[in-house]
Amino acid sequence: MADHVYIQDIAKHVGHEVTLKGWLADKTDKGKLQFLRVRDGTGFIQAVVFAKEVSPGTFEAAKQLTQESSLLVTGVPRAEPRAPGGYELSVKDLQVLQIAKEFPITPKEHGVEFLMEHRHLWLRSPRQHAILRVRARVIRAIREWLDSHDFLLVDTPILTPAAVEGTTTLFETDYFGTPAYLTQSGQLYNEADIMAFGKVYCFGPTFRAEKSKTRRHLTEFWMVEPEWAYGTLDDYMRVGEEFVSYIVQTVLKDCANELRILERDTSKLESVTPPFPRITYTEAVELLHQKGYSDFQWGEDLGAPHEAAISESFEKPVFVHRYPTAMKAFYMAPDPNDPKVCLSADLLAPEGYGEIIGGGERSADLEYLEQQIEHHHLPRAAYEWYLDLRKYGTVPHCGFGLGVERTVAWICKLEHVRETIPFPRMLEKIYP
Ligand code: 4AD
Ligand code: MG
Repeated sequence: MADHVYIQDIAKHVGHEVTLKGWLADKTDKGKLQFLRVRDGTGFIQAVVFAKEVSPGTFEAAKQLTQESSLLVTGVPRAEPRAPGGYELSVKDLQVLQIAKEFPITPKEHGVEFLMEHRHLWLRSPRQHAILRVRARVIRAIREWLDSHDFLLVDTPILTPAAVEGTTTLFETDYFGTPAYLTQSGQLYNEADIMAFGKVYCFGPTFRAEKSKTRRHLTEFWMVEPEWAYGTLDDYMRVGEEFVSYIVQTVLKDCANELRILERDTSKLESVTPPFPRITYTEAVELLHQKGYSDFQWGEDLGAPHEAAISESFEKPVFVHRYPTAMKAFYMAPDPNDPKVCLSADLLAPEGYGEIIGGGERSADLEYLEQQIEHHHLPRAAYEWYLDLRKYGTVPHCGFGLGVERTVAWICKLEHVRETIPFPRMLEKIYP
């Protein structure tokens, strides 16, 4: 066997015998020629088995291969402009590890239900590769930007005694005889952390027992949450637009191949640069009225169609700020000029994708928060530690949370978030 190389590095080995370790993605039988499409996780390549150039045993082995058979292929790579990746392998030898049983996912079309039941196998397709590679680049870009802008990574717990984003979407679990909940957001702990470290972020899985079956809801999703002391609503929107622009521009630069596989029109992403437009919730309601949503009442929550209608009017993502106080979470700071609205803002992505970020300025006022906790029927005892933060050197502060899956769905222009995470968790869906 020659030296093992990965398909992604094949260009460096042109003319030299190498061994690939992978699986058979697809095969075309042309009599004396067998065209094997081999994948190894880093890419796909066509390996050509010519009867005259290999032993009869090797040729016979090639003929027996079924889709997803595991194999080692030894051969010489050469440039082939007509091949999809620009290279082809002239096969010298084959070693078959297993002839795979009939693979359920064939190159023909399958329904989404079927593919979701076979998600563990569906991951092997070029499209899923492209999406999950974009996801990985998005996550790396998130860390790069925050780490290089002095946000300190401070991890927050997953098992918690209290709600952050309302009590209706809590996943309850038994914690040695008392109820505990899977975290909906690390924000409240971030608020403790910034009083110690100034600028922090947490990044991990978050959970919502969402009873909604929509194209943008998961019950387990990844959220990155930056938070900082002495920050205002305007500071948050400035940081948010820089952050999102960096993520999008980085993916455009580094994932051109993936976006091409996904047939993404990248011109729509190129314009994602600061500054982003900003409108108030009240202006958004006026816009909705102009766009035919004449029944929409001030004070109502924006649904997916409303968010899509608003973002349609803008090329770039748009911040909608100063939502009605009554609509938002207990911790939002009321606007001192008009306490009916709060210092919150959501970022709506273009092309109908809707909210990808939620955030704002937090109330720094002990008495106001005590009232809010009572008003929202939250169990005060579980929030004592949080109230302490307003007793010992309280300061204005802000932060936000960006959902990874919705961001990836938008960047890749996918119909549904289910493809943006390796094993999606959704309403009544936990297999595989
Ligand atoms: O707007 P949300 O609920 O905000 C918070 O949790 C704040 N505590 C964050 C903060 O200020 N630190 O969620 C933030 C983002 C949304 O904009 C969305 O991108 C994503 O998290 N998200 C979901 N993604 C997929 N499925 C769900 N069920 C989601 N719920 C929220
Ligand atoms: Mg939100």
